[in-house]
Amino acid sequence: MVNVAILGFGTVGSGVAEVLTTNGGLIDRRAADLVRLKYILDVRDFPDSPYSGCFVKDFSVIENDPEVDIVVETIGGASVALDFTVRALKAGKSVVSSNKELVATHGYDLLQLARQHGVNYLFEASVGGGIPILRPLVSCLAANELSQVTGILNGTTNYILTRMIKAGLTFDQALKEAQDNGYAERDPSADVDGHDACRKICILAALAFGEQVYPRQVPTQGIRQVTLADVAYADSCGYKIKLLGRCLRREDGKVCAFVAPHLVPGDNPLAGVEDVFNAIAVTGNAIGDVMFYGRGAGKLPTASAVVADVIDIAKDLKKDRRNQWGPGAEDLVVSGDVLSSRWYVRVNAPLPKARELFGELQALARGGAPDGEIAFLTQAMTEPELRARLAGLELCSLLRVLD
Ligand code: HSE
Repeated sequence: MVNVAILGFGTVGSGVAEVLTTNGGLIDRRAADLVRLKYILDVRDFPDSPYSGCFVKDFSVIENDPEVDIVVETIGGASVALDFTVRALKAGKSVVSSNKELVATHGYDLLQLARQHGVNYLFEASVGGGIPILRPLVSCLAANELSQVTGILNGTTNYILTRMIKAGLTFDQALKEAQDNGYAERDPSADVDGHDACRKICILAALAFGEQVYPRQVPTQGIRQVTLADVAYADSCGYKIKLLGRCLRREDGKVCAFVAPHLVPGDNPLAGVEDVFNAIAVTGNAIGDVMFYGRGAGKLPTASAVVADVIDIAKDLKKDRRNQWGPGAEDLVVSGDVLSSRWYVRVNAPLPKARELFGELQALARGGAPDGEIAFLTQAMTEPELRARLAGLELCSLLRVLD
């Protein structure tokens, strides 16, 4: 018998309980053992819940129960969740988490701690919700030198951008719709300012390149500045605006990582990823390009990934899953400044002036553009080069083109 405790009975935690119960028979067969939900920790009361007999409010009950083998952490954040994760690992319990903030900021330490105590720390659900991505990255693609990972990693922002593109809603209107549909939080900043995508690209970078990449090292720009004018100009040349998390390994061993809205060419599969869906494109030296697509959030898709980790651990409680990475370093990560690409520029300036500054450029047009506004795509250059040329112009918008 393998006993499981869930920390936090929110959307994901309740989904985990539901999947463990609904699919109990097949989970037991696949784990080759009986997987039992023993505890649910939550400060709230759920008297009518079918799991009412499982609820506890004191974490030490779980920590001190030698029968608990696996702790599922679905609390979120990096304070209480960190304390409980550390205590669970020290108590010799494997931990399964959906908590990207915790993994992105403390992953190295927690993986070390797990190893020291002969247990596992798994977090498939922390990136891409239900999409299998972390295990494929370290197992199925293990033969590859990976060079880059590019992802639509946040469902809320992808929904907002999709509604702006397809229904002509403004950012504020699309955000409100996302909130009304329960995708965006009342305080949407973690999503719309790119922090959620940043945490996820940090985890992907750590697994792809073997060293911790911390969120504070990754320049992050969200989608609040994206306007319908930009959407229209992008559409006029066959591009879609998408918020991308990107990490690339450079030849000097440094990791270039950043989060920013991009113009994605219509024939790139990422351009067709709509609504709350996520997709992650990975490039390796043997496989070439591979893409993972699916539901990046939601109760049952995320629970699907959590319970898969539970089953994996339950099959063999002591097996070392070897998802380790190094501690990282201050000088490991470089910003997107080093990366040359074409750019989309919208400025208030005469077109001849732009041609004088940029030489060859692709001028764009949209209906209803105010006098004096121009937009164009540049040749490939770095952002510092671009900004130097734009100095003195009234800049309205600047977005990198994904080439
Ligand atoms: N708020 C996140 C999103 C949930 O919209 O993608 C999953 O991490």
